[in-house]
Parts: sequence; C-alpha cells; structure tokens
Amino acid sequence: MIIAANLKTNLTRKATHKYMQELDSCVQKSSQEVIVFPAISSLDAYKTDITVGAQNAYPVEKGAFTGEIGLEHLTEFGIKTILIGHSERRHILGESQEFIAEKFHYFKEQGFRIIYCVGEPLAVRESSKEEMLAYLYQQYEGIDTQYENLIIAYEPVWAIGTGKIPTLEDIADIHSELKKKSSAPLLYGGSVKVNNVKDILQVENVDGVLVGSAALYADHFCSMIQAAE
Ligand code: G3H
Repeated sequence: MIIAANLKTNLTRKATHKYMQELDSCVQKSSQEVIVFPAISSLDAYKTDITVGAQNAYPVEKGAFTGEIGLEHLTEFGIKTILIGHSERRHILGESQEFIAEKFHYFKEQGFRIIYCVGEPLAVRESSKEEMLAYLYQQYEGIDTQYENLIIAYEPVWAIGTGKIPTLEDIADIHSELKKKSSAPLLYGGSVKVNNVKDILQVENVDGVLVGSAALYADHFCSMIQAAE
C-alpha cells in the first residue's frame, strides 16, 4: 500500500521537521510505502524511510517565474516525486489540462515519480455515470497513462476536506473504471480519516490513500499507516 500525506499550506518548516521525526519511528515499523508532501519551505525534511515529494513545481529548470520553484530547487533537496493535477491547483490556481499535461511531460522526462490527481466536482457527480466518467477521462488528456513511474490518485472534489466520502461500493466502481484507463497504482483521497481508512484500503483496486487534513498530526497519520498493515 502507498500511504501519502499532503500537508498543503500547513505546518511550518520547524513543525514539519518535528512531524517527520515523530513519523519516522512509526514508518520504520511499517511495511507500507509512505510519502509526505510538505510545504515548499520544508522540502529538506528528509528521513530515510519516508519519501518526500513536492506539492508543485514549474516545468523548467530555473528562470523568470516569480513565486514558483523549478527542477534545480527540487534536485538540490533530492526530490524525485511530485504531485500533479491536484484539484486545488486545477480549481483555485486555475491550472488548465494543457498546462497540467505540460508539467506531467516535463517531470516524466526527468524520471520523476508522478502522483497524478483526478476527481469530479459535486455537480458532475450528481449527473449520470457516463458524464462523470467522461469528466474524469478528460483529466487524462495529454497524460502518458502507461508511464512506469505513475501513481494515480482519485480524489472527488466534493469529498476533499468535507468529511464526506463516496460509499465503498462507489469507490470500488469508479476505481475499476479508472483502472481500465491506466493500470498504475490507484490511490483514493478525500476525507480519509483514522476511522475509515481500513475499510477504504480493503476496497478492490485501492492501492493506497492520499490524506490531507487527517494527516496533519503525526500520531493520526501513524495510526493510518498502521491500519494498512
Ligand atoms: O491531497 C489530499 C486531498 O486533497 C485530501 O484532503 O483528506 O483533507 O480531504 P482531505
């Protein structure tokens, strides 16, 4: 199982170092693969058994892109894992599918492990299954679904940070449809908590979870890692 934490714009560098220290002993006792995506300021929070990934980067080595970081910055920290297509970048930062695909190909060329996110908003979820799948499949446009270093994360937008999750049957159904598009490991994300993670991880075609708010405390995230054993 792949158990990943997206800390988003939470935890300062000092807090992240403490978090990683606490998490380290938990991860050492676990057989799961653990990935943490800290804020940009904490990309140096390295631990041997925990993969640190970037939540975002601009698809260039370096240059005049105010407010962004590029490949050179990631390389200095030994970062080789990146999150691409997260719904907050699509919907809040306004990243287009075209730009997301450009980013994908840039980091693919660099051999990065890519956790690529797809997910539908509520209005789409409430339409027909055909429309929902068409919406999700549109998020695969321009992406190499056969890339060997690809992990996909299915994150329904309406489930992110809301405490709502699809039924386990719905997760199984959508994951089986998404597996037809790519055989890459497929994570579920959106309101994964200590009390539902075990059930979610037992759903067919769920290869792990991508956790946001419930992963902000090392002990909570540790419980989720243990639940995967
Ligand atoms: O990347 C993680 C997701 O956006 C999930 O966030 O666990 O707070 O719902 P959440």
